[in-house]
Amino acid sequence: MNFKEFIPDIFYVGVNDRTTSLFESLWPLPLGVSYNSYLVRGSSKIALIDGVSISECERLRQNIRNVIGAEAPDYLIINHMEPDHSGAIQVIRSFFPHITLVGNAKTLEMVKGFHGITDGVLCIADGDTLDLGGVTLRFHLTPMVHWPETMVTYVPERATIFSGDAFGCFGALNGAILDSDTDVEPYIPEMYRYYSNIVGKYGTFVQKAIAKLSPLDIKYICPTHGPVWHDHIPRVLSIYDRLSRFEAEEGVVIAYGSMYGNTAEVAEVIASRLSERGIRSIRIHDCSRTPLSYILSDIFRYRGLIIGAPTYSNSLFPPVEALVQALKNREVRGRVISTFGSFTWASQSMKRISQVLVEGKNVDPEGVAIAVDFKHAPGDEAIQRAIALADDMADRILAPAGAS
Ligand SMILES: Cc1cc2nc3c(=O)[nH]c(=O)nc-3n(C[C@H](O)[C@H](O)[C@H](O)COP(=O)(O)O)c2cc1C
Ligand SMILES: [Fe+2]
Ligand SMILES: [Fe+2]
Repeated sequence: MNFKEFIPDIFYVGVNDRTTSLFESLWPLPLGVSYNSYLVRGSSKIALIDGVSISECERLRQNIRNVIGAEAPDYLIINHMEPDHSGAIQVIRSFFPHITLVGNAKTLEMVKGFHGITDGVLCIADGDTLDLGGVTLRFHLTPMVHWPETMVTYVPERATIFSGDAFGCFGALNGAILDSDTDVEPYIPEMYRYYSNIVGKYGTFVQKAIAKLSPLDIKYICPTHGPVWHDHIPRVLSIYDRLSRFEAEEGVVIAYGSMYGNTAEVAEVIASRLSERGIRSIRIHDCSRTPLSYILSDIFRYRGLIIGAPTYSNSLFPPVEALVQALKNREVRGRVISTFGSFTWASQSMKRISQVLVEGKNVDPEGVAIAVDFKHAPGDEAIQRAIALADDMADRILAPAGAS
């Protein structure tokens, strides 16, 4: 796939990355990732919208060549300065020395700071337009989706929005650019994971952006990662809308750590009881094995969360500490949370989980309501308390009979 005019005058020139194993050196990429870049061709000017990671800049150049031959883009529209899209700015300028870099005041401050570039730039403000001849670019600032400078670019004549990271997902493109031309199902879990891992902290700003963009006539959403959305716009909008409001589905995530199996044993007891109580979506993760990326994705999706951990060096078992810190960082709200875990001489893990979650406003200031800690191996009494914990969780998350 070199290029494709998937909308009149709009061409895909992005690239697939199937070799990077961890996005941001953190998040696994088993299905790869795409860095989407687009050319918009007017009768008088050509704009390149979003760049690619620096490792992929030569392929970007080839893709541009395939579309416009010896011509050069007049503008590089910088919707977002994160290096997966803007790391190649200097190289793009060396390819096309007369290209003008277009961004808002915050973008240009970063262009100067990261790349030392202050000339050949055009500073735009919210609502400004750029006429390419028959097609117009209009800029809408959407701060903190995902950085302070983020903006989106709208082409009214094509009802098309270049949305930056918003509405993006992990997963390289499988040949097709448009959602209409591919099976989108593999991308949906990758959207939950992308949102919870990358954008999850900025739900309020995503909501503001959705409100700001809702009056626009949008037939195509061109994000910086994943397919271009056309047929599935209502579904994608609804996923982003629900996730950014921390709205969750019925289901429970049990995320635990365990060195010697005592905490793990109780995780299984709780899961069985939840299942007996009719909960169908139960996701069990051992925090030492499942990458945080997938645990977060499930926690953003489901309403119940049960965290298990042994006490470790007078504090919390480290992989579970990493999880609760991630929840605190994202200010995950609206979850029903309980905890459990083993200790041998002085219980600390329950207190520590509660403390971090209170700091993150994930739970009420009183802390986690139900915490089952037990000394040594779980005896009958601990098992009964674990079953009671599961019953309490089921009572709180199952819709009352007759409710819709
Ligand atoms: C490296 C290490 C540090 C520990 N630190 C504490 C501690 O500070 N306080 C405590 O009560 N128990 C401590 N323990 C005991 C564990 O909490 C206990 O072994 C528990 O049953 C482990 O649960 P698990 O079988 O789910 O791994 C420690 C155990 C290990 C291996
Ligand atoms: Fe980003
Ligand atoms: Fe990105």
